[in-house]
Amino acid sequence: MSFTILGTGSALPAQQVTNDQLSQIMDTSHAWIHSRTGIDSRPICRQETVTQLALEAARQALENAGVVPGELDYILCPTLVGDTITPSLACLVQEGLGAGCPAVDLNAACSGFLYAMDLARGLFAAGQVRRVLIVAAEKMSRLVDWRDRSTCVLFGDGAGAAVLGPGEDLLSLLVTAQGTSSPLRIAAPSGNCPYSQGEGGESYLAMNGQEVYRFAVGAIARDIPRALELAGVTPGQVDHLLLHQANLRILEAAQKKLGIPLEKYAVNIATHGNLSAVSVPLLLDEMNRSGRLRPGEILALCAFGGGLTTGAAVLRWRGTPTDK
Ligand code: UT7
Repeated sequence: MSFTILGTGSALPAQQVTNDQLSQIMDTSHAWIHSRTGIDSRPICRQETVTQLALEAARQALENAGVVPGELDYILCPTLVGDTITPSLACLVQEGLGAGCPAVDLNAACSGFLYAMDLARGLFAAGQVRRVLIVAAEKMSRLVDWRDRSTCVLFGDGAGAAVLGPGEDLLSLLVTAQGTSSPLRIAAPSGNCPYSQGEGGESYLAMNGQEVYRFAVGAIARDIPRALELAGVTPGQVDHLLLHQANLRILEAAQKKLGIPLEKYAVNIATHGNLSAVSVPLLLDEMNRSGRLRPGEILALCAFGGGLTTGAAVLRWRGTPTDK
């Protein structure tokens, strides 16, 4: 027993910040950002909290799935950090929905949604759950250093959710970790203990872009073929590729290595930027709501990011009857 995706949802902050707006407050330009990344604008929270975005995405996904909060058996929230370190974002989502099930955050950075699916797969296999809510939510605007033009222009804020039920639509899933602290890092708050020597320094995202770029292209080219092989699916049978949206150039470089036609790639980076764990479920929800996914179609998902972590999965879209 694996699972099927019963419904999806997403939420974005109202404010959209363009490259031209950024160029008014820092030494950058639309031409540089667009040509190096494919990003034109990104959603940035003004007043919205991570919890509000997560709740909105969760409610949409529940409605889309025809599931009520009381039916949920588990809530998993992939996020770097919610509005508070404790309570977890997942506990705040549980409270907001009025659900009564276990709830926990997990941090696998941009690969978080794939890691959450991996844990959900185990819960379904153990016969422990019938309804699982995964809500990825990130407020990257709070974690980047707005004095560092090489990173702050890349990221945005948002939430994406999926409700899972029993089924056989997960055809393969693999996650990896290659632990290293250097290429992508956000330090924890150092505290003010008078007896400790804190790390000092500031708690902002720091990234060696070129190192992560090479890792990302290599990860997609390695993990998608592996996931397809595990699923017994040929590249030609894939209907849609939903890859983490970090940089359009990464997607184009990966496309050359994979040889799957570009029109099969879902792309929303121009208007969203890099939303960390939210990228993949947001793409899924956009495609679901716009009617681009047909029952039985084959989706290949892949994400990569801090840790360094990766995840790849092959899914059939609503191919098996559910127990509803
Ligand atoms: O989601 C987590 C995974 N993250 C990723 O996958 C990110 C992977 N990395 C990348 O996407 C790219 O490496 C970046 C978009 C981050 C950077 O692109 P790049 O082509 O690797 O640029 P670079 O870092 O080599 O910088 C080239 C130049 C530098 O100037 P000099 O030293 O050549 O004079 C930078 O100072 O571009 C400069 N630069 C900028 N100029 C204008 C860096 N950021 C900016 C900026 N505006 N925002």
